[in-house]
Amino acid sequence: MSSKKSKATGPGRLAGRVAWVSGATSGIGEAVAELFAREGAKVALVGRRVELGQKIANRINRATPGAAIALGCDVSKESDVQASIAATVKKFGRLDLLINNAGMVEVLDLHEYTEAQWDRVMNVNVKSMFFAFKHAFPHLRKAKRGYVVNVGSISSFVGQARTPVYTTSKHAILGLTRSIALDYAAHGVRCNCICPGITETPMLWEHLNVRPDPQAALAERLRRVPMGVSLSPLDVAKSILFFSCEDSAGVTGTSLTIDCGYLTAAEWTSDKTLFQENV
Ligand SMILES: NC(=O)c1ccc[n+]([C@@H]2O[C@H](COP(=O)([O-])OP(=O)(O)OC[C@H]3O[C@@H](n4cnc5c(N)ncnc54)[C@H](O)[C@@H]3O)[C@@H](O)[C@H]2O)c1
Repeated sequence: MSSKKSKATGPGRLAGRVAWVSGATSGIGEAVAELFAREGAKVALVGRRVELGQKIANRINRATPGAAIALGCDVSKESDVQASIAATVKKFGRLDLLINNAGMVEVLDLHEYTEAQWDRVMNVNVKSMFFAFKHAFPHLRKAKRGYVVNVGSISSFVGQARTPVYTTSKHAILGLTRSIALDYAAHGVRCNCICPGITETPMLWEHLNVRPDPQAALAERLRRVPMGVSLSPLDVAKSILFFSCEDSAGVTGTSLTIDCGYLTAAEWTSDKTLFQENV
């Protein structure tokens, strides 16, 4: 950015910054917490499984002492979200980065859903982001450069079989991202959305395990991916880092798809061997 206020980029890109990361007890959120700590941030690992969160925080603290805490929180409950944000600020003195990563999927056809199942997916995936922003905003404003990263999906753009409410929730996240970006830009808040494709995390396997042969289902799906490979949680975490630091200065209200080319073609049969020979 040409502004004189634009901050330097480089190693330790999050030095002095404090992050709240939801769903940090596994998969992408866990990778974000580790990467952010390596980049100099203090990190609150937020999730329901606090013992698991504590184990991950201990591992992070062995490499970067004092960088991580674990906080129990069901992101669909406003009181939990409010308390976890307050605890983060109490521990680290500020809050600069809100990473809305927690999410869930329910594999059912729409007519099979109960109202409670619909509400659960929407509450965990979308309403949680409203709660988090609402309670984080006073701190983000104070931080001057308070950044929000919402985790969407390729399902933010297209449908996927038997996950209609997940798809609805992930489309909604794009609208929420743009609204936050617009309404809070004057407060120095930037808000962007990361949209991952096939990423090898527990959630992916939950999705695939309903198939008779999950490995074959993954291989079949990867045949539609031009690069022919899946993403690691760290791959996605690096994109989240981009939106969380000055490398993306001036970027707000947008989305970044990281999907090994999945959405670029209506039809595709990948040649994984060719990709692996060449790269
Ligand atoms: N894995 C993929 O292929 C993929 C693709 C696109 C988008 N995503 C998105 O990435 C994000 C992270 O998912 P992941 O793939 O790392 O899977 P994951 O299952 O490892 O992580 C999801 C995390 O959210 C937590 N969570 C779920 N409900 C919660 C609640 N009510 N309160 C607090 N925490 C809760 C889970 O405990 C878990 O730690 C999700 O938003 C998901 O939709 C994943």
